[in-house]
Amino acid sequence: MIEICPSILSADFSRLGENIHTVDLGGADQIHLDVMDGHFVPNITFGPPLIKSIRPVSSKPYWAHLMISEPEKYIKSFIKAGVDGIVIHAEVKADTVELCKLIHDNGCDAGISLNPATPIEVILKILKHFERALIMTVNPGFGGQKFMSEQLDKIVRIRENYGNDIDVEVDGGIDVSTAPMAVKAGANMLVAGSAIFRKADPVAAMTALRRAAEDAEQILQ
Ligand code: DX5
Ligand code: ZN
Repeated sequence: MIEICPSILSADFSRLGENIHTVDLGGADQIHLDVMDGHFVPNITFGPPLIKSIRPVSSKPYWAHLMISEPEKYIKSFIKAGVDGIVIHAEVKADTVELCKLIHDNGCDAGISLNPATPIEVILKILKHFERALIMTVNPGFGGQKFMSEQLDKIVRIRENYGNDIDVEVDGGIDVSTAPMAVKAGANMLVAGSAIFRKADPVAAMTALRRAAEDAEQILQ
């Protein structure tokens, strides 16, 4: 089963609640929340207060993708704001297995993400602690960038080592033409921002994305 996770980074922030409500009713599986601190990435987005205010809009799982340098300082605040899962980056200074434990101890699921420049070997051994791997197929920081297909080999490597024991999510440049490549590599969760929210009909765009992904999945079976 492929899961579609709209990233609100590309939503209309003046109508954020409405936008989330639309994709919720339209069949989104999860809501992807891109948190940026202007330090780990060259952009700033939002934090726990905003997440708390949009939490009641949907009962789907909310996952925060923390593109921040010191996640250890904020993990508890994000969990208090109501997220179901937290993705940290492998490139942060802190011990990521300790961060994973902190997330779990506070009742949340945990994921780990890799920037394009970071080799898969950095997380292959520690992945057993996490529920999810998030493979970046753009350099994090902005929506609407070009998909980096050479990153897909990382997904293949995870599946070779872990089979279906972990969720593998792809983030960056996902649309109807790139989603099938990600699924064929072994991804079961797709993040999409501009391919959903920058379209005139986000629900139709999400449906088209799901269809493209499921067609690719069928070919695999
Ligand atoms: C990029 C973010 C992505 C972003 C994807 O740093 O992590 O989640 O929203 O945007 P698109 O789907 O437009 O590439
Ligand atoms: Zn993201």
